[in-house]
Amino acid sequence: MDYQVFVDEQIASIRETVGDGLAINALSGGVDSSVVTVLGHRALGDRLKTVFVDNALMREGEPQRIVDIFAGMGIPVELVDARAEFLNALKGLTDPEEKRNAVTSTFYRKVFADLVRRSGAKSLLHGTILTDIEETVAGIKRQHNILAQVGIDPKEEYGYQVLEPLATLRKDGVREVGRLLGLPAELAERIPFPGPALATRIVGEITESRLATVRAATTVVEEELGDSGAFQYMAVLLTDKATGIRDNRREFGQIIVVRCIESVDARTATAVELPWDKLRRICERITSIDGVNRCLYDLTSKPPATIEYV
Ligand code: XMP
Repeated sequence: MDYQVFVDEQIASIRETVGDGLAINALSGGVDSSVVTVLGHRALGDRLKTVFVDNALMREGEPQRIVDIFAGMGIPVELVDARAEFLNALKGLTDPEEKRNAVTSTFYRKVFADLVRRSGAKSLLHGTILTDIEETVAGIKRQHNILAQVGIDPKEEYGYQVLEPLATLRKDGVREVGRLLGLPAELAERIPFPGPALATRIVGEITESRLATVRAATTVVEEELGDSGAFQYMAVLLTDKATGIRDNRREFGQIIVVRCIESVDARTATAVELPWDKLRRICERITSIDGVNRCLYDLTSKPPATIEYV
């Protein structure tokens, strides 16, 4: 595929579809929404409003970091603090599907819906890619970012149309387009990160303190495995606890699972055979996090496991 032709065609098509109206899009910092943001700004300039919603489930420092990177490319992004809404919606939930639904509906039905309404935009740019559509059709995923899955017909409910300029590309194609558009490598080469963010890495209830634990463990894993070349790596917090000893005292502590996988397209995956020294160092750093006294390495392939835990 000639990606330059693809870019030119998509820019022309966005311009034509949006006409002289306003458009809006939500940037998550993932490759797909980052590419859509740059593409949309090339097509529409300041007639595209881009928002970054802080849902309380992000990695350490992520919201401001993403806003800063886009500012560096001359693209203004509005940072919206919706942490309280998401934490409230998640309160008391332990079932994986209920948690995912809470995140998705808080985003689409509440926070983003309000932003769209207030912006006056009649078009919404969305980073759906071909794999999302295929997995949804195949019934593998119900969590991917497709509005219909949460029962929303945008035209009917909000009077806006949805544009999906990346719907014919897979991840490798999206990265190619990102490079072509001058997206910094930090974004174009990013490992996948799920839309519901750290909510997919906390088994059981999501609270601020449990988020702080998994966030700290995520920082360790990303620092230690950033140069591993693996497809994806993550830290997961379990609900089980285990007995340990700290400062000569018995402690009933948290358990963090580290997962590092090789994969081509996330449809299947195998655990990476990491060097023992690396694993030991990760374990030492993770068990220094407050309240965590065990660190496990997950050897499971997909299938039968999925990549995320929730
Ligand atoms: P699973 O856990 O289903 O994950 O094996 C496959 C790939 O998809 C990512 N993932 C998501 N991405 N929204 C996304 O944009 C989601 O809700 C979501 N859930 C999982 C996961 O990180 C892995 O790369």
